[in-house]
Amino acid sequence: MKSSQPLSPAFAPSPSLLDNARILITGGTGSFGKEFVKTVLARYPSIKRLVIFSRDELKQFEMAQQFNGAEHKCIRYFIGDVRDEARLRRALEGIDIVVHAAALKQVPAAEYNPFECIKTNVLGAQNLIEACLDNGVQRVVALSTDKAAAPSNLYGATTLCSDKLFVAANNLKGSRDVRFSVVRYGNVMGSRGSVIPFFLEKRKTGVLPITDPTMTRFNISLQEGVEMVLWSIEHALGGEILVPKIPSYRLIDVAQAIGPDCEHPVVGVRPGEKIHEEMITSSDSHNTVDLGQYYAILPSGAATIRTYCETRGVKLVEPGFCYNSGTNDRFLSVDDLRELISTHVAGDGATRIDLGRDSRPPLDSGLRAVPELRTVAVA
Ligand SMILES: NC(=O)c1ccc[n+]([C@@H]2O[C@H](COP(=O)([O-])OP(=O)(O)OC[C@H]3O[C@@H](n4cnc5c(N)ncnc54)[C@H](OP(=O)(O)O)[C@@H]3O)[C@@H](O)[C@H]2O)c1
Repeated sequence: MKSSQPLSPAFAPSPSLLDNARILITGGTGSFGKEFVKTVLARYPSIKRLVIFSRDELKQFEMAQQFNGAEHKCIRYFIGDVRDEARLRRALEGIDIVVHAAALKQVPAAEYNPFECIKTNVLGAQNLIEACLDNGVQRVVALSTDKAAAPSNLYGATTLCSDKLFVAANNLKGSRDVRFSVVRYGNVMGSRGSVIPFFLEKRKTGVLPITDPTMTRFNISLQEGVEMVLWSIEHALGGEILVPKIPSYRLIDVAQAIGPDCEHPVVGVRPGEKIHEEMITSSDSHNTVDLGQYYAILPSGAATIRTYCETRGVKLVEPGFCYNSGTNDRFLSVDDLRELISTHVAGDGATRIDLGRDSRPPLDSGLRAVPELRTVAVA
């Protein structure tokens, strides 16, 4: 991953909370879930149980070809829906650590099916919290998205609600030994439904539609997301929304990296889409601390923030600070993008595909408006 401050895995304490742990991951068959499972199996061979919890038996069947119970005795595949609290309670019996990665996350689908999105992303989060509290779970890390900061679409708004529920869960725990925290990050390079796989497919047609030539996004790799969640399991004190320091990219540079010889017509943003994403708003600056490789947005309250700063030896960010993909101090160049896409998305490193070199005139000269309104997924 190109970044001046790589998110390093060299933090794993020994002994680790994950040694001999029993872990459940909701949404374990998704992009994040598979990378998480791969990492945990490789790094923590003493894991006692690793439960993959999701709805679709086919995805579980396919995942079991790669991670099977015969080779990995700790693995269990549980069919279940986070909307079903009784099922969650049963699945969580004996579990120490929960990672919550189940979500409906496609912006247009959420806009079109709002009740469904609320049931999974908000009520599902509530069900999980209640079931964790009643089953003696000790660490809970929920995944969030940059779209939850000052949300402009329902997916972002439901994730913000979910974030609030997990942060507030620390107020409900009473004397229980449990910590709830949230990991919030931006676009995962090459994840399902996102712009890079879309462009890789579209380049065969010679046309890569650009929603807006000024659009920017944060960029993180799946592995960096996994490292953050592992960090949070080990180190979060409870109540933090953790945000990584990661680079941004310009959408037009992605198009240039993937299809330099393609046309890049401008087709306009889709409903609920922002030109730039934000992970920390200026309103959050009053309760955001700098942890070095991460920021942590803390629950408001002067006493909470003071205690946190004293415990960790950290400081609040400057008042008015915001973390926005458009004003980020680190941007990936076209060459950086080409290399990252080739390594992380288009091939497995050993079988890199040739994305070609840039033989086009300067960036903006290929842009022209077209009347047809088409949408590009930038999830
Ligand atoms: N990908 C990104 O670019 C990105 C960026 C920022 C944050 N995130 C966040 O990271 C998390 C994981 O994302 P991802 O990319 O791994 O998503 P994904 O590939 O779409 O996987 C989602 C997982 O959730 C499961 N799921 C969906 N609804 C469920 C339900 N009601 N009950 C139980 N399981 C359910 C899905 O399996 P079934 O359909 O079989 O149930 C699947 O295993 C999400 O919270 C997402 O918002 C992702």
